[in-house]
Amino acid sequence: MSTLLSDLRTAWFSHGRSPRHLGFWALATYRMGRQALDIKHPMLRRAASAAYGVCAFVVDVNSGVELNREARIGADFHLVHGWNIKVHPDCVIGSRVSIMHDVTLGTNMERPGAPSIDDDVFIGAGARVLGGVHIGRGAHIAANSLVINDVPAGATAIGVPARVMLYTGRPPAERRHNDRRRRSAATIGDDQRHGDRRRPRS
Ligand SMILES: CC(C)(COP(=O)(O)OP(=O)(O)OC[C@H]1O[C@@H](n2cnc3c(N)ncnc32)[C@H](O)[C@@H]1OP(=O)(O)O)[C@@H](O)C(=O)NCCC(=O)NCCS
Repeated sequence: MSTLLSDLRTAWFSHGRSPRHLGFWALATYRMGRQALDIKHPMLRRAASAAYGVCAFVVDVNSGVELNREARIGADFHLVHGWNIKVHPDCVIGSRVSIMHDVTLGTNMERPGAPSIDDDVFIGAGARVLGGVHIGRGAHIAANSLVINDVPAGATAIGVPARVMLYTGRPPAERRHNDRRRRSAATIGDDQRHGDRRRPRS
């Protein structure tokens, strides 16, 4: 219970402490559903799972966000706009990952598996990450990209299908997009535009 409260508190602060932020409700529902899986008493587990089912339905209808509770999502997850986001149950997502709106992390019809995403990754609006691909720590996925191959740590993947650009600048840990003390959602694009240097992969 204390873990759930602490998770909800973190989600509340990382989503602007606003009850209007759909991302907060989606993440709170996911955390609740996850906790429900660990309840030992069968009746309580069933009741908590039923409550999760209702909340997940309401969240899905209102925001189009589906964070399946079978997916594993690390701490400080940030749904920047909390709109139309699909996360497959087999996804594994690290800590401090930020996701813009209209993003799919799912399977590719022809490839088994779902994405695994390391810590400190940023995924831009409209991106699709499909199949059992691995996105390395601190990588960036550009808006509207289609990622069907692995992305190394610290790299930026751009395009359809995405090609990889490697950063030569600051290490991934310094490029955390959901560090509330330094950044706001509105300035993410500008910070990247002016702050990072990269070279194309040969
Ligand atoms: C991927 C991203 C982080 C790269 O930022 P950056 O490192 O500053 O890169 P630049 O803007 O300098 O662009 C580098 C190159 O990639 C291209 N590029 C950047 N983003 C692209 C995208 N989404 N699709 C296609 N090409 C893109 C640029 O045209 C440029 O090409 P060039 O070298 O031939 O001129 C950024 O472009 C992005 O997509 N951010 C997502 C922002 C978002 O989702 N905003 C939603 C707000 S609601």
